Amino acid sequence: MANRPLHMTLNGQSVGPVEVPEDLPMIDYLHEYRNLTGSRLGCGQGICHACVVIVDNPDGTSEEVRTCITGAHYFEGKKIRTIEGHAKRDEAGQVTELNPIQQRFVDEFAFQCSYCAPGFVNAATVLVEKLQRQPIKQSQLEAAIEDSLGHHICRCTGYVRYYSATRHVLTDLGLVKEG
Ligand code: FES
Ligand code: FES
Repeated sequence: MANRPLHMTLNGQSVGPVEVPEDLPMIDYLHEYRNLTGSRLGCGQGICHACVVIVDNPDGTSEEVRTCITGAHYFEGKKIRTIEGHAKRDEAGQVTELNPIQQRFVDEFAFQCSYCAPGFVNAATVLVEKLQRQPIKQSQLEAAIEDSLGHHICRCTGYVRYYSATRHVLTDLGLVKEG
């Protein structure tokens, strides 16, 4: 398979262009070319969503994209966030502050082995950003969480703490209105 140059913005930094095989899955690009191994390869078939990254669209919206079934070249010119990009870091690269979702998942013991956690963090982060653009009513909250997290698979937990922690973050951030 031939190579083609690939360029994107990854966690706020412009990367590439670098020659990458035309059929390279995005998850392999992240792991092998960028040493970003936080996006997890689970099923490899588009089902578990452990591998998702966030794409920041030009219109200001954000969305999850599964990297196991999406070629790296799909991301040409796009803005991408991976799990490694959420926390604040000092100049030495050490994490100084987790994002609200990450911190809440830790505080509420939302995960066990954590293999699925990057996907859940990205899903909940996209949900936070969606509700920051358009808050919802309390009566819509459970459906919104289910819509965002429901397609992520966790083999360790009963999902209850992921959902509960997400509920608390959304409420604490003032994204859920009465009604
Ligand atoms: S590893 Fe990508 S959806 Fe399961
Ligand atoms: S915490 Fe182990 S797979 Fe989710």
